[in-house]
Amino acid sequence: MEIDIFTLFPAWFDWFAGQRHVRNALQAGSRLECVDIRAHTPLSGGQVDDTPFGGGAGMVLRVDVIESALRVRYGVDPVELPQARRVIALTPGGRQFDDRYAAELAAEPALTLLCGRYEGFDERIVEHFASETLSIGRYVLAGGELAAMVVCDAVLRKLPGALGHAESAVEESFSEALDGDPEYPHYTRPAEHRGWRVPEVLLSGHHERIRSWRRERSRELGGGPEDNRS
Ligand code: 6GU
Repeated sequence: MEIDIFTLFPAWFDWFAGQRHVRNALQAGSRLECVDIRAHTPLSGGQVDDTPFGGGAGMVLRVDVIESALRVRYGVDPVELPQARRVIALTPGGRQFDDRYAAELAAEPALTLLCGRYEGFDERIVEHFASETLSIGRYVLAGGELAAMVVCDAVLRKLPGALGHAESAVEESFSEALDGDPEYPHYTRPAEHRGWRVPEVLLSGHHERIRSWRRERSRELGGGPEDNRS
């Protein structure tokens, strides 16, 4: 998996890329690179944004600046890019990110994440250069950077080699293996603490009963088929 992140704040990702599970994914053959949007601006003084036509608050990322950054990176007219790889504009109004979306992205060979700032993107960026828009929830962040980290975290941990145990990502919350339900509760030693006992079934060594107990707890937490699903 190759991930390119276009951002005005590439240094934010130094911390992220240093985290153990991310380093593991990178060692297992994935790549995470940042492109500094400002470094590629054709405008003077490092300008990347401008005031919105029609008036209103805030600043909008310019289409010519993003075009230039994409062109320098990929050496093609960026209108061709969505045919070659998924180009995802991160914006609060985008397609809601969830486990299914993460799994879909984890199956791709290459991703491009565009981080908006200020009031967001000139719409022509979304229309002509992006294959889709993505949102991590119904609230507004100052920029797409944290959302990009959320996406990378969720996607990279689905790749083989990112986790300690290959199984960990299969039967986890919201996965297909759990029919989209949250994961069942976990317990470890001590079996009793302040009189709080671990459910007996988990100590029984009875794998079939343990499996069905876990499945039931997951279903309860899921709250039925209509809850929280896309
Ligand atoms: Cl992807 N970007 C911004 N700026 N805010 C968000 C978001 C993305 N997802 C939820 N809120």
